[in-house]
Amino acid sequence: LDNGLARTPPMGWMSWQRFRCIVDCKLYPDDCISDRLFRKMADLMSSGGYLDAGYEYLVIDDCWLSHERTPQGRLQPDPDRFPHGMKDLADYIHSKGLKFGMYENFGGYTCAGYPGIIHHLEVDAKTFVDWEIDYIKIDGCNASIDDYKQGYTDFGRYLNESGRPIVYSCSWPYYIENKGIYADYKYLGEICNLWRNYEDIQDSYESLTGIIDWYKKHQDRFGKYAGPGQWNDPDMLIIGNYGLSYEQSKTQMALWAILAAPLLISVDFRTIDNKEKEILLNKDVIAINQDKLGIQGWWVKTISKIDAWVRPITPVVNGKKSYAVAFHSRRDDGYAYAINVSLHKVGIKQGTYSIKDVYNPDQKYEDADINDVFTIKVKPSGVVFLKAIPLS
Ligand code: DGJ
Repeated sequence: LDNGLARTPPMGWMSWQRFRCIVDCKLYPDDCISDRLFRKMADLMSSGGYLDAGYEYLVIDDCWLSHERTPQGRLQPDPDRFPHGMKDLADYIHSKGLKFGMYENFGGYTCAGYPGIIHHLEVDAKTFVDWEIDYIKIDGCNASIDDYKQGYTDFGRYLNESGRPIVYSCSWPYYIENKGIYADYKYLGEICNLWRNYEDIQDSYESLTGIIDWYKKHQDRFGKYAGPGQWNDPDMLIIGNYGLSYEQSKTQMALWAILAAPLLISVDFRTIDNKEKEILLNKDVIAINQDKLGIQGWWVKTISKIDAWVRPITPVVNGKKSYAVAFHSRRDDGYAYAINVSLHKVGIKQGTYSIKDVYNPDQKYEDADINDVFTIKVKPSGVVFLKAIPLS
């Protein structure tokens, strides 16, 4: 969507994967979806170095709403959990230097059963604008397949007409792809800044690899529609939670960088370990994710059960692009065996490159012509993530 926003993949924090639809504030006073939780996360996002690293959008997912609209037909937050209203919370989040994102659902009810926006598109867009949001995720539960196109188009138009810059995230493709219907990604790129195309991520390596494998399988259909202002969204980062090992966390971050994916952390900033935090804040990986060419990378081939992925990036030297190259081990046979690779093997066509190991800068590689063979050792379910820059 050409609205001047999301020229690189959006970065931020989103509540869903970690905090779900916890609405019982008696049982979970510190974790329930509430004004209190989001102020706390805003504080830590801003003071903990995340904002400085580029994570700027704080996005509230499902379960913030009251079950009733106001007598005037406006959306309103749950009065007990958001006693100060949404504009007040928006002001607080903005005062921390962050941008504010919210969630709604196109169909009659959100996936968790709160009021949706269908039949109220214009007034609801106005409500969000009044609250001064900067980002909206529109989910696609409880809608009929024939209504999505018009609905997502109209709502986006109301947002645009408001004049307020609002990143527009559309879950529409997921809700038709999961019925076996291919989405029109060209059109999505015209009306949305990002879109979910596959299942929700859950807190496990199995879920992560399920998404990765779906991207591998279908990449040719939608990879080319990624670019400044329009991104495929493989869903939130689960790094720092319960389900991924340290190596697997590096894998998710590397692949999300290769895929030019939105980086939406879903973690409890109060409890994340430093090692995982370091992965999320890794400057080199973030720079690859945010590369201004905006080209989505792709799976090239699998060598000895190691998936090789590449993404063309800057700097461009004498017309030759640089590349991010990720080797993701799909092995579980316990040892980081040495495998021989070359840049040519992963699809790079010409040139001599300096090679940097993004996660282990101390690991030195010789400069390599595309045909030079070098050895990498990838830990089971982990990744070796290289950056190759043309020498001339
Ligand atoms: C389905 C979406 O894909 C999730 O990311 C989350 O927003 C839930 N719905 C909320 O109900």
